[in-house]
Amino acid sequence: MELPSALRAAVDQALEGISTAEIAKAAEALSQRYRSETRDGQYHLGDDPSARAYLAVRLPATYAAIRASMSALAELRPEFAPRTMLDIGAGPGSALWAAADCWPGIDDALLIEGSAAIRAYGVRLARHLAVERVAWRSHDVAAALPEATPRDLVTLAYVLDELDPAARNPLVDRLWSLTADTLLIVEPGTSAGWQRILRARDRLIAAGAHLVAPCPHASPCPVAPPDWCHFSRRVARSRLHLRVKDADVPWEDEKFVYIAASRHVCVAPQARVIARPRASKGLVSAKLCRRDGTVADKVVSRRDGDVFKRARRLDWGDSLDVE
Ligand SMILES: C[S@@+](CC[C@H](N)C(=O)[O-])C[C@H]1O[C@@H](n2cnc3c(N)ncnc32)[C@H](O)[C@@H]1O
Repeated sequence: MELPSALRAAVDQALEGISTAEIAKAAEALSQRYRSETRDGQYHLGDDPSARAYLAVRLPATYAAIRASMSALAELRPEFAPRTMLDIGAGPGSALWAAADCWPGIDDALLIEGSAAIRAYGVRLARHLAVERVAWRSHDVAAALPEATPRDLVTLAYVLDELDPAARNPLVDRLWSLTADTLLIVEPGTSAGWQRILRARDRLIAAGAHLVAPCPHASPCPVAPPDWCHFSRRVARSRLHLRVKDADVPWEDEKFVYIAASRHVCVAPQARVIARPRASKGLVSAKLCRRDGTVADKVVSRRDGDVFKRARRLDWGDSLDVE
C-alpha cells in the first residue's frame, strides 16, 4: 500500500531541510521508546525531530494499517457513510487521511492530540485534504475528554499502548459514548497489542456494541496464547525511509490488530482468515476464525475444484461468506 499522492507530497515537503542523519537518529530514539513502551510523562513525539521521524518512518505504516481496517469495516457495512469523525491521539492525522480515502463523504472532523510538535504537522498536512471542516484540539486524553457531540466515526489508532493502563478502560467507555455509529480501535500487531484490543472488545460487548470486524462473533476470543490474532499489510518504503533504515527491501510488513464496533447490527461473515494462508503443491491451508466462535485450520486440495481456485486467492484478513 502507498500513501495517497497528496499526502506523500505534503509529507515530502514537511521533511525538507532535515538531514537523513538527523531523521535516522530521531527514528532510532523513537523506536527505542516504542519497543520499551516507555511511559515517563513525555510524549514520544514531543519535539520536532521525533515528529518528523514519525512522518518519515511510521506514518506510511500506521496509515496502511488503519486504511486496511477501514476497508474490512466498509466491506461488512457498505451502507455506512460517515459524515462526522472524531480521532483521538491523532498524531499527524493518519486516521483522517485514511477515513477521507475510504469515505469521501466525511466533511467534519475533530482531531485531539496532546503533542504540539506532531499536531503542528497534522494541521499542515490536513490543509491538502478535501475535508470541509477539520478542527484540532490539544488535550491529554488520559484525563477526561473535552466536551464533544457524538460523531458517526470515532477512531483511536496506535494510542492505547501509550496510555497508562488505568486510563484505557475509561477512555474506551467515553469513546463509545461519543460514537453515533462506529468506533474503530487499531493497535500494533503484537501480543500485547492484541491483549489491549481484547480488553476493549470485552468492554464494548458489555456496553451493548455490535462487533463488525475482524471478529465474526461476539463469543470469547478462541485464539489462545502463545498465539495471538493480528493482521499484516505490505507498505512501500520511500527512498528516504530506505536511507534512514539503511535497508534494501523497498517494502515492509506492518503488523496490526483492530476492533470495529457499531451501534447497528451487522451480518457477520462465515469466517475470517487470521493468518497468512499456506500453499503447497495441490493444497491450501487457511486458519479461520469462524462465526460459531471457534478457530480451525481449513485445508483445501486441488480435488476440491472451484473451492481450491478460490482458496488460492485468499489473503490474510479476508472475510468469507462461505467456508
Ligand atoms: C503512535 S502515535 C499514533 C498517531 C496516529 N493515530 C497514527 O495512527 O499514526 C500516538 C499519538 O497519540 C498521542 N497521545 C499519546 N498519549 C496521549 C494523551 N495522553 N493525550 C493526547 N494525545 C496522546 C501521541 O502524542 C501521538 O501523537
